[in-house]
Amino acid sequence: MQLPKHVAIIMDGNGRWAKARGHNRFFGHIRGAKRAKQIIEECARLNVQNLTLFTFSTENWKRPAEEVNFLMLLLRKRLKSETKNLIKNNIRFHCIGDLSQLPTSVLDQVNNTIEQTKNNTGMNLTFALNYGGRQEIISAVKSLAEDVDAGRIEPKDIDEALISNKLPSSFLQDPDLIIRTSGESRLSNFFLWQAAYAEFYVTPIYWPDFDAEALQDAFSKFALIERRFGMTSEQVLKNLFDGNNSPPIDLV
Ligand code: FPP
Repeated sequence: MQLPKHVAIIMDGNGRWAKARGHNRFFGHIRGAKRAKQIIEECARLNVQNLTLFTFSTENWKRPAEEVNFLMLLLRKRLKSETKNLIKNNIRFHCIGDLSQLPTSVLDQVNNTIEQTKNNTGMNLTFALNYGGRQEIISAVKSLAEDVDAGRIEPKDIDEALISNKLPSSFLQDPDLIIRTSGESRLSNFFLWQAAYAEFYVTPIYWPDFDAEALQDAFSKFALIERRFGMTSEQVLKNLFDGNNSPPIDLV
């Protein structure tokens, strides 16, 4: 089966999952974090090359302070306890987003896990933390404007590759599958630039219930999709026949 090379997941529905069971939202986040561990290990087992989890958005700071504090505590504790398993599973940990606003204790743990897993050669696991798609595009535009101002590039040089290279996710290929749980079909400011050709899979399952079988369903559906990147079916077949799997962006 053709597996996606980069899977990105918008993990949604922890609060509703908990409420439906008469628990508070914090319990939903605890179960959500457990599920994240299971899905990370399942993706590594299946040899997915890149997995990105939308873990905390720039908008999530608007939640009640107790919930934000709890999410930060949970993140720090889970990263601390899971780093050894990441090493065991040869998973390399990365982060994208504005990490400067994270509490120091969380930032220290994030940096520690990045450092401890930097020589791993298996799956790239990326947490989007304090991440906003518009914010990173603004940073990229500012940086390009500075390059123009300093005479390093000319405005006519600006193309897709230059913009992509300015994004913190430039070390990853664009996601080919974006999964969102809990039935909402929005990007919510996630991977706005990178999602250009991604397949979007929405499931009504709340994140704490999104198990290996649910992941397999998403992968099976992905495998059936003919990805044309703006071409005709005949061109796709010819490309496959010629052994060229890269998206011919110039044809779009
Ligand atoms: C969405 O549920 C989830 C988040 C706030 C982000 C994801 C956080 C986790 C899965 C827990 C911590 C994760 C790790 C990897 C340590 P929601 O609160 O928006 O749910 P709702 O829409 O039902 O209220």
